[in-house]
Amino acid sequence: MSDSELVLCLLPSILALFLFFILIKRKQKRFNLPPGDMGWPFLGETIGYLKPYSATSIGDFMEQHISRYGKIYKSNLFGEPTIVSADAGLNRFILQNEGRLFECSYPRSIGGILGKWSMLVLVGDMHRHMRIISLNFLSHARLRTHLLREVENHTLLVLKAWKENSVFSAQDEAKKFTFNLMAKHIMSLDPGVPETEQLKKEYITFMKGVVSPPLNLPGTAYRKALQSRSTILKFINRKMDERVEKMKEGIEDLEEDNDLLGWVLKHSNLSTEQILDLILSLLFAGHETSSVSIALAIYFLPGCPRAIQQLREEHTEIARAKKQAGETDLNWDDYKKMEFTQCVISETLRLGNVVRFLHRKALKDVRYKGYDIPCGWKVLPVIAAVHLDPLLFDHPQHFNPWRWQEMKQQSSDQSSTSSSNYNYGNNNSFMPFGGGPRLCAGSELAKLEMAVFIHHLVLNYHWELAEKDQAFAFPFVDFPKGLPITVRHLNSCI
Ligand code: HEM
Repeated sequence: MSDSELVLCLLPSILALFLFFILIKRKQKRFNLPPGDMGWPFLGETIGYLKPYSATSIGDFMEQHISRYGKIYKSNLFGEPTIVSADAGLNRFILQNEGRLFECSYPRSIGGILGKWSMLVLVGDMHRHMRIISLNFLSHARLRTHLLREVENHTLLVLKAWKENSVFSAQDEAKKFTFNLMAKHIMSLDPGVPETEQLKKEYITFMKGVVSPPLNLPGTAYRKALQSRSTILKFINRKMDERVEKMKEGIEDLEEDNDLLGWVLKHSNLSTEQILDLILSLLFAGHETSSVSIALAIYFLPGCPRAIQQLREEHTEIARAKKQAGETDLNWDDYKKMEFTQCVISETLRLGNVVRFLHRKALKDVRYKGYDIPCGWKVLPVIAAVHLDPLLFDHPQHFNPWRWQEMKQQSSDQSSTSSSNYNYGNNNSFMPFGGGPRLCAGSELAKLEMAVFIHHLVLNYHWELAEKDQAFAFPFVDFPKGLPITVRHLNSCI
């Protein structure tokens, strides 16, 4: 074929491509997009956005972009045109319109590693179905009757092993606690036995890959995590086969019938592949976030001795009343008395921002505050930026649990003088667990874990940081040195 014939053949495709780009440009021009910078082709501004920074700040990238463009700006992140929102109202609007105007849209690599049936990536009816199963498993009734006891047992198991005069990683201890709890609750695995320890080891490799760049090349953390994923799935599959065998033989085990694996096998019609992904993703969702939150509380509290003092008073009073009543284990009424502890938990989550931003995409062209969000664009509600906004939270970088008491007071004063439903105070800007139809299914369990851990921690130990360490957002929150601490037993030993 001659050159001129080749050009003639390709001409229609070149023209079509040209027209396509003109149409896209025209469409973009029709939109009143927020200001911003699309950065480099393909890479956009992703590298700057993901650069690690102190977890108690919003980082240089966000700070500069907000001061240049405002709280809503456009960018190109994770290979896609994106609207970034540090605006409390828009964030709420996005999360509450899940499935109508916006939809959950995590990068493909997350689905690759957590599985295509993972709750984090599912949308529509299948998401609703999995969510109902998870909510059932984490229900309020189960928290009261079953989980509170487990949470306390696992807390004590970890805390009792702490030794004076030795330096250890508070972050690893918190991980041990939340992993053991989830492994028990999901598959009735006992802490310390070889199979649980083996699973934990695989899980650590798996986690490193979930939070690393998705490069499936020999030697990368992502490739190793994919290998660990298949080892973990084989493990869960084996447990499943054992259970099915037991069920066939009519062997009853109260504990196993009560765990997630037993429940899904008996009451759901999920396929094996779906059960495996559900279990893996719940282990992930329930273990990593809670352990970081506990490590953050251990990190923030020594900087605020007055808060430790007030916590000790609250928990000593609970312990004293229990002793008088001849009780030992914590019950739901004790938990409800932990009011100041709840303020400490809220403040830890506000300042530490375990989950910093969420991934969504627009299902339709959406207009908000005069700006357009085009259909198909990615949308990132940055919840951390709202929690650290000085217009919403006074001195946002300051760990101040009492702000929650003040806000509660303001809110109740307002509701007694006003007939409107408006939620005064800043509570409706506070979204550490997301919001709308995808609100964290484990938020109540997470708060219970933190409260019970804090209860036994402040009653039994004085602790200090053994070495300077700091929480960093990578953007997942982590302590580079593992948060090394030393402890001293208090008189009221466990
Ligand atoms: C302090 C600890 C925790 C934090 C900060 C946290 C935060 C979040 C956030 C922000 C979301 C929403 C994700 C999105 O909308 O894209 C979420 C979802 C979820 N979380 Fe948590 N979480 C925590 C603990 C837990 C625990 C202990 C569990 C229990 C297993 C859990 C299970 C889940 C599940 C199943 C979802 C998916 C909900 C859905 O898509 O319907 N989380 N979490």
